Amino acid sequence: MVKPLIAPSILASNFADLGCQCHKMLDNGADWLHIDVMDGHFVPNISLGPPIISSLRKEIPRSDTKPSFFDCHMMVSEPEKWVEEIAKAGGDSYTFHYEATKDPLALVKLIKSHGLKAACAIKPGTSVDVLYPLGEYLDMALVMTVEPGFGGQKFMADMMPKVEALRTKFPKLNIQVDGGLGKETIPAAAGAGANVIVAGTSCFTATDPRELIEFLRENVSK
Ligand code: DX5
Ligand code: ZN
Repeated sequence: MVKPLIAPSILASNFADLGCQCHKMLDNGADWLHIDVMDGHFVPNISLGPPIISSLRKEIPRSDTKPSFFDCHMMVSEPEKWVEEIAKAGGDSYTFHYEATKDPLALVKLIKSHGLKAACAIKPGTSVDVLYPLGEYLDMALVMTVEPGFGGQKFMADMMPKVEALRTKFPKLNIQVDGGLGKETIPAAAGAGANVIVAGTSCFTATDPRELIEFLRENVSK
């Protein structure tokens, strides 16, 4: 059984109060922080990059006793270019987009050579088949459940067959879903076999984030 991991997306936080808001999520039971890096080229939005990740790492040092895992979702063209920077800034995993690279396996090797976990994401229009040859080399696969670029979009339930197909082929792989996850959509995602749940808007607007994070986790554990 794969472990449920809940990863609030800091894109939905108030960036002026980023450190405090991240602590709040981790103190309320979040396992990872999901960090959306956007370059204004691969996606039509610009978010943040290595300098902010580096500041956040000083605020949240790596720890064996407290969650401190930085899950970096790289929505960038030329993902090869930023691996070293993200490793130096304090990232723990590096998720590149399949659509952005010519040689995904070489990129996986590069990512691992920098001590990072390697993950590959597919956009809604990309077939899940492209992940099959990569699965055994990946630490995680990310099935996007919105078009990447913005938080607060509607969950695409029609992506769930991709998750089901991946789960059947790779029973032990971390399978992440990202976009539109919350109380109403978690049953579909968890039922399909996703175990790493990114939740931005739902976590950061929750009146009780602890209760929400627990709810998401319980659905994955069912
Ligand atoms: C979208 C990002 C997501 C986004 C999710 O491009 O990859 O991580 O922040 O936000 P919500 O949970 O609000 O859909
Ligand atoms: Zn993301």
